[in-house]
Amino acid sequence: MTLPKRACVITYGCQMNEYESAVIERMLVERGYQLGAPPEEADLVVMNTCTVRARPEHKVFSQLGWLRRLKEKRPQMRLVVCGCVAQQWGSGILARAPHVDVVIGPRDLASLARYLDGQLGLGQLVATCLESHPFVATPPLVRERQVAAFVTVVEGCSYYCRYCIVPYVRGRATSRPAQEVVEEVAFLARQGVREVTLLGQSVNCYGRDGGGGCCFAELLRRVHQVEGIERIRFTSAHPRDFDEELIETVASLPKICEHFHLPLQSGDDAILKAMGRRYSTADYLRLVGRLREALPGVAISTDLMVGFPGETEEAHRNTLRFTAEVRFHQAFMFKYSDRPGTRAATMPGKVEAAEKQRRLEELVAQQNRISAEINAVLLGEEFEVLVEGLERTGKFMTGRTRTNKIFHLEGQAEVGQFVRARAERSYLWGFRGRLVGAA
Ligand code: SAH
Ligand code: SF4
Ligand code: F3S
Repeated sequence: MTLPKRACVITYGCQMNEYESAVIERMLVERGYQLGAPPEEADLVVMNTCTVRARPEHKVFSQLGWLRRLKEKRPQMRLVVCGCVAQQWGSGILARAPHVDVVIGPRDLASLARYLDGQLGLGQLVATCLESHPFVATPPLVRERQVAAFVTVVEGCSYYCRYCIVPYVRGRATSRPAQEVVEEVAFLARQGVREVTLLGQSVNCYGRDGGGGCCFAELLRRVHQVEGIERIRFTSAHPRDFDEELIETVASLPKICEHFHLPLQSGDDAILKAMGRRYSTADYLRLVGRLREALPGVAISTDLMVGFPGETEEAHRNTLRFTAEVRFHQAFMFKYSDRPGTRAATMPGKVEAAEKQRRLEELVAQQNRISAEINAVLLGEEFEVLVEGLERTGKFMTGRTRTNKIFHLEGQAEVGQFVRARAERSYLWGFRGRLVGAA
């Protein structure tokens, strides 16, 4: 029997999953698969999953229910579950969804390649080794006219924040050899990529596990030398590991964009301590101050969580007050969700669902007001925009500023071009404006 040839890759979760899906896509293309088939017609469906909160985990099982009906009609279809739910459930996925063929953990992509090569037979397979070297030789697929790409440089996380399942499903932090990172970035540049985002759950702990061969600041310096790459970003940076050397490095390297994603989680010191975040609000404010001093105009975004166990109304007020003081350009805000196996799941003081919802809405309303105000102040300014393609309605070209704001352009612009544009309207998400020339 020959392996099926039309494939569909469905991706949930964070940018690391997007990166791994692009690697999987290249694995498939290299083996003769055609991508982009609708699941109803695909011979191979790969689902790359996320379990950071209960909701994305539930979504996986409801999708699997729907795929079972497709497979009943077309039994030759092969179904692969990858990503963090695959790691969390392992063979439990086959018990709950026996129509699944293959379960692959995020550190075991090499087994997927062997499966696709037919080396592991066509029976059911569960490959969830957390100890193996997580990086494969296959670079991510680059689509036609793709200008920005992700490159994972640290897999896993050793922080064990008490609410977080990531270290359990991705293992301890493992840095990728710097040489390998630089080669992959250079490869992407040759394919037309102009902007890279280096990824890790806590990307600035790069090198601290003894792998990699250098520290994060040095890795940035090396990536900075890659010809063809004009913009460098990284995410997420753990506030605790953003040391002076890194601040000076990002300030001195012109390709590094003036935008940093620094997850804060809470603006209350007792909650930060209970979360195991290892910094205080004072530490955080000091870091933001240093970055603003070193890089005037820097944009800082964050992640926030409401309703961690034991979060009182007063603690919530502290988060509102502190985030209003920092004035983030953007924030991703979540309701705390119990994750099996984490410390927080067994902590007392759970906050009721309706109360979490109220706190979230209050925080979102405040943040939306701040984001809109920050953008409104920038009206009339000129920005460098890297043109990425057409926006959703098809009327404007769209791209991003160095500060990571979306910019809809009026006027002629080519994908991959750097242009200068003036902001004429501001929104919560960014700007619309007119092209004023080449950058
Ligand atoms: N490594 C990053 C982010 C990891 S997950 C960091 O250090 O912050 C992305 C975001 O999901 C987190 O920043 C956090 O805000 C949120 N998150 C993680 N676990 C969660 C949980 N159990 N419930 C709700 N949100 C959670
Ligand atoms: Fe999770 Fe904390 Fe690691 Fe981020 S730093 S992935 S929140 S354990
Ligand atoms: Fe989700 Fe795994 Fe990323 S749990 S957020 S896909 S690391």
